[in-house]
Formats: sequence, C-alpha cells, structure tokens
Amino acid sequence: MTDAHTRLAQAPTATAADVASDRLPAHVGIIMDGNGRWAAERGEPRRVGHAAGEQALFDAVEGALELGLDHLTVWAFSTDNWKRPPDEVRWLMWFNRDLLRRRLDELDERRVRVRFVGRRARPVPKRVLDEMDEAESRTAHHRRLTLQIAFNYGGRTELVDVARRIGDDVAAGRLTPEGITERSIAARLYQPDAPEVELVIRTSGEQRLSNFLLWEAAYAELVFTPVLWPDFRREHLFAAVAEFGGRERRFGKV
Ligand code: IPE
Ligand code: IPE
Ligand code: MG
Repeated sequence: MTDAHTRLAQAPTATAADVASDRLPAHVGIIMDGNGRWAAERGEPRRVGHAAGEQALFDAVEGALELGLDHLTVWAFSTDNWKRPPDEVRWLMWFNRDLLRRRLDELDERRVRVRFVGRRARPVPKRVLDEMDEAESRTAHHRRLTLQIAFNYGGRTELVDVARRIGDDVAAGRLTPEGITERSIAARLYQPDAPEVELVIRTSGEQRLSNFLLWEAAYAELVFTPVLWPDFRREHLFAAVAEFGGRERRFGKV
C-alpha cells in the first residue's frame, strides 16, 4: 500500500454524536501541515496542495459548528514562512486574500466570527490587511463560533509584541514593574479574551509546535495525525476531540 492508502485506511468514522458534549475543549488550535507533501505525492506543484487545503479548512469549520465548539484557531501562515521561495509566499498572500473574499459571505451566514492573530503589519501586503479588517468587522457580532486565523503568526513574535506593549505601559506610568503578572501578560496577547487553547491538532505526522500559540497552549493536549492537511475532514476533528475527552488533565496537581 502507498502512504496515501495507509492514511485513508486510518480515516476515522467518528460522528459529532460520538463526542461527549460535556468534554469539549474550549478552544482548539490546528496546525494545518502537509500541503506540499500532498501535492508532491501527485506530482503537482506545492500551490496545488495549498489550494486543496481550502476544502479541508471549511469541512473542519463545519465540524466545529456541528460539535458546538466556541473557539477554533487555524494556522495559515507563520512568521517563518517568509523564508520560503518568493513565488510560494506571493501565491499564498494572494490565495489567502482571495479565499477571504470568496468565502466571507458563507462564514457570515453561518454566524462565524472571524478574527486574526499575528503581526498585522508589513511585510503582509496592505490589500491582505484590508481584507482581514473587512472580515473582522463584517462578522464581529457573531458568537456561534469564533474562527481565529493565525496569519503572519509566531508565538515568540507575539511575546515580543506583548513585551513591547508592557514596556510602553510601564514607560507611560500605566503599569508598574511589580504589576507585571501572568494576568497582565495575557491581557496583552493578540486576542486577550480568547479562552486558553485546550487541544492542539497537527496534521502530516510532524510532532512539534513550530512556535504555535506558545503562551495560549501552555497546557494544551496535543494530538498528532498522519493525515496530510488537504485530506483532513470533520471526522478527523471529531476523533481528536474524542481523544481529548479521554485524556486526564492534571495541571501540575496529583
Ligand atoms: C502547510 O503545509 C501550509 C503552510 C505552512 C503555509 P506545508 O506547505 O508546510 O506543507 P509541507 O509540510 O511542505 O508538506
Ligand atoms: C507550520 O508549518 C506553519 C503552518 C502550518 C502555517 P511549517 O511546515 O511551516 O513548520 P515546520 O517548518 O515543519 O516546522
Ligand atoms: Mg510543513
């Protein structure tokens, strides 16, 4: 069997009804990985894998709605992804802007609040930043599901941005050095009102965080799946959430 066949044979058959509704993670993060390998398996350029990832993302969103999840954060572009070939980076910028434009009505109709985490500045093109502003303002009143898109996101960059805000607040006399606590740090994250990330899912078999939500996911349960992102479907989300429900979480206690 090829790798692709093995992975398909492992496709879970879980439904939303199999997941205990009292054991839902308040916030799920997904590292959407493996697009390039999915394309390579088909002899296609990497962008074909990224394009195929759109269907996976929207199926995962449907799954999150079926489950009744509150918060879902998906990682679309990292601060380190600028190191990729300029063609791929340019294509990803265009693709993400285009995707937002094409699918915003649908998200709005489904009462999904869209917002972003990441550094909202250059080198992200202005036209992409404008589309992000538009998506946020159009959907700001929805509460059924909050879909956070991590774009130009890096966990260390976020903590640098937090440190800069704290520096400004101390310099301006709004905060004392003794006043710096976990709470004052958390209050300066990109989306301070989001609940802590309780479950992180990474596709493509890689078992690392790669600088994802370092503060927010400090106590998250980690679920790794070999499925490549374009093959991910809501059933994989249900299976990961069911796995979360069976984990014992201790937070340092006995
Ligand atoms: C994830 O897939 C998407 C982004 C990082 C933008 P990759 O592009 O990392 O795919 P692989 O890991 O090379 O297969
Ligand atoms: C993490 O995947 C970033 C995104 C999914 C957007 P990468 O493919 O960039 O991470 P590494 O290079 O394998 O650590
Ligand atoms: Mg990758």
